[in-house]
Amino acid sequence: MKGIVFTEFLELVETEFGMEVVQQIIDECELDTGGVYTSVGTYSHKDMFKMVGKLSEIKGVPVPELLAVFGEYFFTTLKTKYPIFVEKPNLFSFLNSIDQYIHPEVLKLYPEAELPAFQAEIKSENEMMLNYMSSRKMSDLAIGLIKGAANHFKEDVDVVKIGEENNGQTVMLQIKKI
Ligand code: HEM
Repeated sequence: MKGIVFTEFLELVETEFGMEVVQQIIDECELDTGGVYTSVGTYSHKDMFKMVGKLSEIKGVPVPELLAVFGEYFFTTLKTKYPIFVEKPNLFSFLNSIDQYIHPEVLKLYPEAELPAFQAEIKSENEMMLNYMSSRKMSDLAIGLIKGAANHFKEDVDVVKIGEENNGQTVMLQIKKI
């Protein structure tokens, strides 16, 4: 997993909860890196789950909720870093382009990136299905990223998990305008 995911996560924790909580996470997690990440490095996604799990323990907030909040924040980072990818007319066409265009381009830039696969289907003007597939089981992060994207396109949507297989490796997400 690319270092930018870790550096942004720790930045969000610092802003929301302060440096002491960042330090507690690093001290108590037995991370592969000892808590040192550079945005261009590549690290195990297990470290991310260790840190999110620890934050959940400290703050009493469930892991899926924390991942979704982080995803929403992380979208703002991605859109600032890669403005060309968000040049789409609306949320559904943007989401449709992740698997076709965005993530493949990301892979050209960072061949070591570990990205999920998506099957997208626009059902109607108001409803779309996105099937998340990844051994990293981060569909909650995807939900947050979708919400971040919805904010960007100024669209109000509900994102619901309507089916889950292989312990979260395949998750069907329904995105409905409200
Ligand atoms: C500007 C648009 C986007 C860019 C540039 C982008 C890029 C990236 C990058 C750099 C990573 C980290 C890869 C790694 O750590 O090895 C990532 C991971 C991920 N992306 Fe995207 N992404 C974008 C939009 C989205 C959206 C809207 C979603 C949600 C539907 C999404 C879902 C995910 C998920 C869930 C991961 C975590 C890895 C996994 O689950 O296997 N991305 N993306």
